[in-house]
Amino acid sequence: MVPKISIAIDGPAGAGKSTVARELARRLGFLYIDTGAMYRALTLKALRRGLNLDDEDSLKALAGESCIELTTDPEHLTRVFLDGEDVTQAIREPEVSRHVSLVARFPGVREVMVRRQREMARCKNVVMDGRDVGTVVLPDAEVKIFLTASPEARARRRQRDLLAQGHNIQLDLLIREIRERDRLDSSRPVAPLVPAPDAWIIDSSHLNAEQVVEMIVARVLGRLS
Ligand code: DC
Repeated sequence: MVPKISIAIDGPAGAGKSTVARELARRLGFLYIDTGAMYRALTLKALRRGLNLDDEDSLKALAGESCIELTTDPEHLTRVFLDGEDVTQAIREPEVSRHVSLVARFPGVREVMVRRQREMARCKNVVMDGRDVGTVVLPDAEVKIFLTASPEARARRRQRDLLAQGHNIQLDLLIREIRERDRLDSSRPVAPLVPAPDAWIIDSSHLNAEQVVEMIVARVLGRLS
């Protein structure tokens, strides 16, 4: 029997998780699951409905009734569908980025999301990225990575990505937003952003995505042999 392998990649925004996770999944032939995209899709729906983002019950109910699907296109890019609508671009808008931590802080919302994430990983080899994958979603993952980088390095990467989407945002503002998001994500009582005790911590401030992927592939192949 071929062993089933889950790779958990956690870390703060802008550390390069999704680039690394996507490439890793492509190299190993695993399914890539972007858990942040799920919280973003829910946030988009809540904003469109004008829901009060302090109202946990409404947000949990919204999560329960929403169909959020992640598919991989032939270029290995994830497409995100919210109730059948392709929201891949919409969930990356700054308005969603600004509000997603508020939605993701609620245990009721996370319970619904975590259940779906575990379901997706049950039968397949996956690379799953997020904040709580190694600690909560897949605590038995065979490989756990905590990928981090300095706020400045992360803000510069975010600025480049946003520019490619036509948004020219000042670096200072992005650094402030990143610090604030880190603060919210790491201080929340439920599933805070912390490395799992058995995670391998990689600082990508001075590494490119390819170098990080190489390091992880070597470790995964080492485990398989
Ligand atoms: O990785 P990202 O920037 O797309 O994540 C968006 C937000 O969702 C971020 O504020 C943290 C939150 N998130 C979370 O709380 N748990 C996860 N597993 C993934 C993301």
